Amino acid sequence: MKKWFGCIALCSLLSTAWAAPGDPEKGKVVASSICYACHGLDGVSPIPTQPHLAAQIPEYVVKQLNDMKSVGGAPPARDNPIMAGIVAMLSPDDMRNVAAWYAIQPPHLTQSTDPQRVAVGQKLWRAGDGDRGVPACAGCHGPTGAGVPALYPRLSGQYQDYTELQLQHFKDGTRANDPAAVMRSIAHRLTNDEIKALSDFMAGLH
Ligand code: HEC
Ligand code: HEC
Repeated sequence: MKKWFGCIALCSLLSTAWAAPGDPEKGKVVASSICYACHGLDGVSPIPTQPHLAAQIPEYVVKQLNDMKSVGGAPPARDNPIMAGIVAMLSPDDMRNVAAWYAIQPPHLTQSTDPQRVAVGQKLWRAGDGDRGVPACAGCHGPTGAGVPALYPRLSGQYQDYTELQLQHFKDGTRANDPAAVMRSIAHRLTNDEIKALSDFMAGLH
C-alpha cells in the first residue's frame, strides 16, 4: 500500500507544475491546424492506435506532451516517433491551450465487444487482485473511468487497441513516464489475456 500513497503524494506535487489553465479558443486553432488529422477536431480519433482526446484531463495531456518531447537530444520519457515531431513544434502555451480545448469536448462513448472478457476486466477494475498485488483500477482512474484531476487519465470510451498497446508498453517498460513507476508495476503483474480483458471492458465503461 505504501507505494500507492507515495505516488499520490508525488502526483499532487507534480500537478501544481501544470496547473495554469489554458485558453480553449486559442487551443482550437492549434487543434484545427495540427492535431485534427489524427485526433479529430472534437477529440474523436478516426484510427484505433491514435487515442481519443475528448474530455481528457487537461493537466494529463500537458504532461504527456512534455514527456514526448526530447530534451537535449536524450530520448523522451514517452518515446513515440510520430508525436515527437509534433510536440517539437508546440510552445508551452500551445500545449496548455490545446489541452483546454480537448478537455471541454464531450466524452467519446463506445461499446465493449466480448462479454466473457468484460467480466474478467470488470472484476480487476473494481477489486484488483490482492493476492498478486494488483490494485483496483477504479481507485485511481475513478469508478466510471472518467479520470481524476490532475494526473489520472480518463480511460473510458478509449479505443481497445490503443489501451492494450499502452498497457503492453508499461509492461515491457517501453513507456516509462508514469510517476513512481505506478503503471509499470501494475502492468507487469497482468497477463496478456487480462490486458485484453481490461481494454475491452474500459472501452465500454461510462
Ligand atoms: C500524424 C498523427 C498525429 C498527429 C498529427 C497528432 N498526434 Fe497525438 N498521437 C498520435 C499517436 C499515434 C499517439 C499514440 C502514441 C503512443 O502510442 O504512445 C498520439 C498520442 C497523443 C497523446 C497521448 C494521449 C494519452 O491518452 O496518453 C496526446 C496528449 C496527443 N497525442 C496530443 C496531440 C496534440 C495536442 C496534437 C496536435 C498538436 C497531436 N497529438 C497531433 C498521433 C498524432
Ligand atoms: C495508484 C494509482 C493507479 C492505479 C491503481 C492504476 N493506475 Fe493507471 N495510471 C495511473 C497514472 C498516474 C497514469 C498516468 C501515467 C502518466 O503520467 O503517463 C496512468 C495511466 C494509465 C493508462 C494510460 C492511459 C493513456 O491514455 O495513455 C492506462 C491504459 C491505465 N493507466 C490503465 C490502468 C488499469 C487497467 C489499472 C488497473 C489494473 C490501472 N491503470 C490502475 C495511476 C494508476
